[in-house]
Amino acid sequence: MSGQDNTNATDTTTPGKVPPAPKGTLKKVRVGHLQEMKASGRPITVVTAYDAPTAALADKAGLDVLLVGDSVGNTVHGFETTLPVTMDMMILHTAAVARGAQRPLIVADLPFMTFQVSVEKTLENAGRLVSKGGAEAVKLETNDPHVLSSVERLVSAGIPVMGHVGLTPQSVNATSGYRVQGRGEDAAKALLEQSLRVQEAGAFAIVLELVPATLAQQVTERLSVPTIGIGAGVHCDGQVLVFHDLVGLTESPPRFARKYMDMRAGVLRGLRKFARDVREKSYPDTGHSYE
Ligand code: KIV
Repeated sequence: MSGQDNTNATDTTTPGKVPPAPKGTLKKVRVGHLQEMKASGRPITVVTAYDAPTAALADKAGLDVLLVGDSVGNTVHGFETTLPVTMDMMILHTAAVARGAQRPLIVADLPFMTFQVSVEKTLENAGRLVSKGGAEAVKLETNDPHVLSSVERLVSAGIPVMGHVGLTPQSVNATSGYRVQGRGEDAAKALLEQSLRVQEAGAFAIVLELVPATLAQQVTERLSVPTIGIGAGVHCDGQVLVFHDLVGLTESPPRFARKYMDMRAGVLRGLRKFARDVREKSYPDTGHSYE
């Protein structure tokens, strides 16, 4: 895409608690930059975000892409699966993320049954995520060959599409739970072929979820568009984690998720201390009251 010099990001926010974005990182990230990153071997960093303050922190930390995942159904709304997530929920969360972050590319998930019904419905729903939510690209689960014509239509309408193969949580009822995909020769071949078809349909990147590392490496080497792995080993062009897994808010995170901090313990400690202070009447003290 752009041949412009896109380096030299400046941190204009208040100096303080959160470290600034690494120097020399891209300014506003566009879909074409991810292609350039694959070509230059620079790993693409992606995290899910569902609200404005988290999006602002992820921006400040220098993340390249914010994914407003339909995992919001599990992480924020307390559902067992992503199936109950609606367009209205996705628009609300995407708009909040778009208000919070400037530099990262903002990608929003199309939820269950908003892209499986028809090409026209898919276009309408993706258009709403862009025009009302401020998404700069949409992601859809692309294991099903029927969705390829929708991918083509979105791309020709100017809506960049991120594909998603391997484990696709919206198919949880058909895949008997959350299992590693693409094991065995036939399954591996099918996954590679489907990834190539998704690329052919015009996707600018493809998420590989819960795929053996060697297969993810093969797919990454065969595709010209970047792969973004989650539970797919180190050879993908980028990595995505669910924010709540990364910061230690998830009670039982998946094995592949590294916990970078223990937010559950910190929040629990703070809440318990507040409750104790209120009960003991040591809060609010004079320093936190008005004359
Ligand atoms: O919804 C989501 O958060 C996702 C990621 C796990 C890739 O699709």
